[in-house]
Amino acid sequence: MHLLDRSSSVWIYLLFVLLDCYWEAVSGQLSYSVSEEANVGTVVGNIAKDLNINVQDLESRMFQIVAGSKRKYFEVNRKTGFLYVNERIDREELCTDEPKCTVSVEAVINNPLKLYRVEIEIRDVNDHSPSFNTKTQTLDIAENTLPGFRFALSEASDADVGKNDVSAYKLSPNEYFSLATQKGGESVSPELVLHKALDREKKSNIQLLLTAVDGGSPPNTGTSEIKINVLDINDNAPVFNSTLYKIKMFENTPIGTAIFTLNATDADEGSNSEIVYSLRSKDQDHILDIFKTDPETGVISVKGKIDYEERKAFEIRAEARDKGQPPMSAHSKVLVEVIDVNDNAPEITVTSLLNTVNEDAVVGTAIALVSVLDRDSGKNGDVKCQILNTVPFKLETNYKNYYSLVVDGHLDREVTPQYNVTISATDEGSPPLSNTSVIIVYVSDVNDNAPHFPESTVNVYVKENSKVGTVIKTVTAVDADIRNNGQVSYSFLDVNSKSLPLPTMININSETGEIISLQSFNYEELKTFQFKVQATDSGVPPLSSNVTVNIFIINEHFEVPYL
Ligand SMILES: *[C@@H]1O[C@H](CO)[C@@H](O)[C@H](O)[C@H]1NC(C)=O
Ligand SMILES: *[C@@H]1O[C@H](CO)[C@@H](O)[C@H](O)[C@H]1NC(C)=O
Ligand SMILES: *[C@@H]1O[C@H](CO)[C@@H](O)[C@H](O)[C@H]1NC(C)=O
Ligand SMILES: *[C@@H]1O[C@H](CO)[C@@H](O)[C@H](O)[C@H]1NC(C)=O
Ligand SMILES: *[C@@H]1O[C@H](CO)[C@@H](O)[C@H](O)[C@H]1NC(C)=O
Repeated sequence: MHLLDRSSSVWIYLLFVLLDCYWEAVSGQLSYSVSEEANVGTVVGNIAKDLNINVQDLESRMFQIVAGSKRKYFEVNRKTGFLYVNERIDREELCTDEPKCTVSVEAVINNPLKLYRVEIEIRDVNDHSPSFNTKTQTLDIAENTLPGFRFALSEASDADVGKNDVSAYKLSPNEYFSLATQKGGESVSPELVLHKALDREKKSNIQLLLTAVDGGSPPNTGTSEIKINVLDINDNAPVFNSTLYKIKMFENTPIGTAIFTLNATDADEGSNSEIVYSLRSKDQDHILDIFKTDPETGVISVKGKIDYEERKAFEIRAEARDKGQPPMSAHSKVLVEVIDVNDNAPEITVTSLLNTVNEDAVVGTAIALVSVLDRDSGKNGDVKCQILNTVPFKLETNYKNYYSLVVDGHLDREVTPQYNVTISATDEGSPPLSNTSVIIVYVSDVNDNAPHFPESTVNVYVKENSKVGTVIKTVTAVDADIRNNGQVSYSFLDVNSKSLPLPTMININSETGEIISLQSFNYEELKTFQFKVQATDSGVPPLSSNVTVNIFIINEHFEVPYL
């Protein structure tokens, strides 16, 4: 366009020079103006009249318009003398953004040859709207940007000139930004001014509409969308969904069991919102030996042994920390209540009061103290104690978990010298746990048995004239008692009989019960005699019994009738 313009002006210039040289000088100069885009045929001016040429002569004198360019924008009506628009004129095509746009033509008439210069100013019409070269402008603004900060926006352009060019900008109403304009040379530059602090967590994207308005009447407008991405700053700490959690768990929960999930959220985004969980410990509480958490999921699981009998509650301090720079963190507590499990059997402790119990002990005699201990609590620690086997003893209690083992029947060492008393203690857990203990009770002897002869009467036949010192009979008594109580000695009862001098006739071995003759018997003198042997034990007091011994002397000349 420019090139064409320039060559056409050169051409016009040459024409001028030629005309100047060979013909009359230019006779005059006319100026008109017409709006661009005027309809073809629009009258620009009465050129004949303005040049003082008779309308009737135009035809004969060959009046004509010589265009300065290839395009013939104007033509003359030789009948009326009016200069009119011959072709659509686009000021913007012709002059782009030059503020003044003119088209020069020559009017030529013959006889005599005359040349007139006509300048037609092309008036701008507001036939263009402002436009932005981007439909959308994107701005990334950190949420901590201080109010007052300015952000340049792209300008709009308008092909029209002068007052029809862009003259103002408008911004859609919003709470964060206002619009400022910078006058620089001819154009106006729009700027966003932050006037209220941003908060990505409230609004992460803001859309505005920038409108450019030209000064035409009516004005034309063009718009551009402004997209603002509010960039995250690590300005939010993680937040636990509760500051205190209360949970219950069984003791002896297996290692690795998940018991709780920490839950914190962070309003920021990206790494500013990524949370790392951890557990904190006071120096001595060993929490970290017993619990652990997964840094990513916040799942708390069991790491060590949990024994209700050792510890009934834990206070776990948890931390959530984001990965922002610098990081922010939050804390929470998890109170863990340990629930007892029936994991301890009762323990039985026996304290003997007597090494042995006499067989004549009376009912109610205390033999041993039994105490039971169950480390569990509640029903798991409530214990009942009983004797499992049938024995002449029972448990008596005055005090919870303390019992005495007492005699509850007749004891007889000679029948049962030792009892194994099986005691069981059972708690009330479910399932119940029990333990047993055996108390061995030794029964000690009491001299409650007298020596015992198998018969009440013994008949002994002795030959007459037998040798002195012969053992004529051995009597034996048995005593069920033991030791001294069962040790028997023998003696004659009623030795001082009036009828017989017994001590001169026989003797008895007190230990063996052997009866020995001290003389030779004569059947003719003494045919029979009788005495009593007493057996006495060594108990205190001693017990005794007697047997009657009948001695029959046998005549040498006769056989014993019954033997
Ligand atoms: C965290 O807690 C919130 C409610 O406070 C809940 O909506 C969310 O599902 C929880 N997250 C997990 C992983 O359980
Ligand atoms: C907190 O989060 C935990 C685990 O995700 C969930 O079980 C609990 O219900 C939440 N608590 C509240 C108060 O939302
Ligand atoms: C039974 O009790 C004893 C102590 O009296 C204890 O050592 C033992 O562990 C208990 N038995 C069981 C099965 O718990
Ligand atoms: C009692 O227990 C002992 C072992 O302690 C055993 O030798 C004896 O036979 C038991 N007695 C009875 C009557 O069960
Ligand atoms: C001898 O024993 C009988 C019964 O066996 C008894 O009745 C009697 O009193 C006893 N005699 C003496 C002197 O102990």
